[in-house]
Amino acid sequence: MDLGGTMIKKATVITYGCQMNVNESAKIKKILENLGYELTENIEETDIAFLNTCTVREGAATQIYGKLGEIKRVREIRGTKIVVTGCFAQEQGQELIKKFNYIDIVMGNQNIGRIPEAIEEIENRTAKHVVMTDYEDELPPRIDADFESKKTASIAITYGCNNFCTYCIVPYVRGRERSVPMAELIEEARELVKKGYKEIILLGQNVNSYGKGLSEEENFANLLQNICDIEGDFIIRFVSPHPRDFTDDVIEVIAKNPKIARSLHIPLQSGSTRVLKLMNRGYSKEQYLALADKLKERIPGVSLTADIIVGFPQETEEDFQDTLDVVEKVGFETSFMFMYSIRQGTKAAVMDGQIDDEVKKDRLHRLMSLQNSISKKLSMGYEGKTERVLVEGPSKKNKDMLSSRTSTNKIVLFKGDASLEGQFVNVKINECKTWTLYGELVSE
Ligand code: 5AD
Ligand code: SF4
Repeated sequence: MDLGGTMIKKATVITYGCQMNVNESAKIKKILENLGYELTENIEETDIAFLNTCTVREGAATQIYGKLGEIKRVREIRGTKIVVTGCFAQEQGQELIKKFNYIDIVMGNQNIGRIPEAIEEIENRTAKHVVMTDYEDELPPRIDADFESKKTASIAITYGCNNFCTYCIVPYVRGRERSVPMAELIEEARELVKKGYKEIILLGQNVNSYGKGLSEEENFANLLQNICDIEGDFIIRFVSPHPRDFTDDVIEVIAKNPKIARSLHIPLQSGSTRVLKLMNRGYSKEQYLALADKLKERIPGVSLTADIIVGFPQETEEDFQDTLDVVEKVGFETSFMFMYSIRQGTKAAVMDGQIDDEVKKDRLHRLMSLQNSISKKLSMGYEGKTERVLVEGPSKKNKDMLSSRTSTNKIVLFKGDASLEGQFVNVKINECKTWTLYGELVSE
C-alpha cells in the first residue's frame, strides 16, 4: 500500500448480454472515471465492482450468482463494494438484496445517471443498501462515453419495447419504447466520427420503429440517411430491426448508401406462422420470406442473419420443419439459435404445451447443423473475391495476423502491419473456413 500518496480507487465493470449493455457499461465507466476511479479488469484489486446484467434467457442468473460469489470473496478481504445494474437488477430489485445481503447497490437501467449519488450514500453510510429501480419511462441522461474499441462505437436510438412478444421479458424490464430526438442522434454520430470511430452501431430493441412520438420527419429512414450524410469514411450498422416494421423507404436508403453495412440482422424467431402468432410477432412465414427476397433483390450482396427460438410452447415437429425451411430458403449467413426458456411474468410462461428439454435440445442440434452447413457454403463463396474490410487489430488467436471484418460482417484474417488498425483496406480472399476467411492485402 502506498501510504504516502493519495490512494486511487479502482473500479471494475463486468458486462453480460447484448450490445445495449455494452453501450451502457461504457457510460458507467465514464461516470466512474469522472468520479476519479481508475478502471481495472482485475477484480482482486478492485474497490467497487459493477455487474451489468442480462435476464433475457435462463442461465443468466446462474452466471451472475457465480460471479457474485467470486466478488464476495474479494469483498471479505478488501471491502469491495458490489453494484448490480442492468436488466436482471431491474427485474429483481429488492429481492436481490434479500438473497445476497452483501450487495451494496441495485440499480435499474434508467438510473445509471444516479450512480454518483448512490455511491455517496453507501460511502457515507447514510444507507446500508441502495435500491434504485424506479421505473421512469424517461430517456436516460446522455453521457458521452469512450468505447473500448477504438474503431467501434454505439448509439442507443430507442429505449424499451412495446411489442410484447409472448416469450420476452424485455418490455417488462426496460419499459415502454422511447426515441431519442433525431437532432441529438445526428450530433452524437457526428462527434463519434470526428473522434475517429469507423463503425457506428445504432441500438434499440426495435430500431425500425424509431421515432414514435416524435415529429413525422423523425423516422428510421431519415435517421439513417442523415447519418450517412455525415462526412467521413465509416460504416453504419443497426440492431435489431423488427421484420414487421421493415418499410420500403428504409430498404431504399440502405440500397443507395454503401456506408450502411451489407449485413442485416432480421430476427426470425420461428418459421411457422402458427407459432409466430402464438409469439405475437405480427408476421407470417410467407411475409418473412417475401421480406428476405426483397432485401436480397434491392441490396445486392446483402448478408442476412437471425435470432431463432426452438421449442416454443406447442411447437410441433411440423412447425419446426417450417423453421428449417425458412433457414434453408433464406440462407442466413449465421444465426443465433436458442432453446425457448421460461421467463416468469410473460404470457408464454403460462401457456399449455411446454416442450420437453430433450425435444428442445434435439431441435436445436438439428437446426445448428443445418445452419452450419449453410454458413460453410456461403463462406466458400468468398473465395477469390476482393473485399473492403475494416481492420480491427491483431487477431487474438494468431498474433501475426490482423483481424478485420467485411461489410457483410465476415471475419477476415491477413498479414499486415499493426498500423493498419482502424483503417479500411482491400483484401483478396484465398482461403475460406466456415467462420473465418483468410486473405492477402492488395493495394487499392
Ligand atoms: N427463450 C429463448 N430465447 C429468447 N429470446 C428472448 N426471450 C427468449 C426466451 N424466453 C431470444 C430471442 C431474441 C434474443 C435476444 O433472445 O431470439 O431475439
Ligand atoms: Fe423482446 Fe420482441 Fe421487444 Fe425484441 S421485439 S425486445 S423479442 S418483445
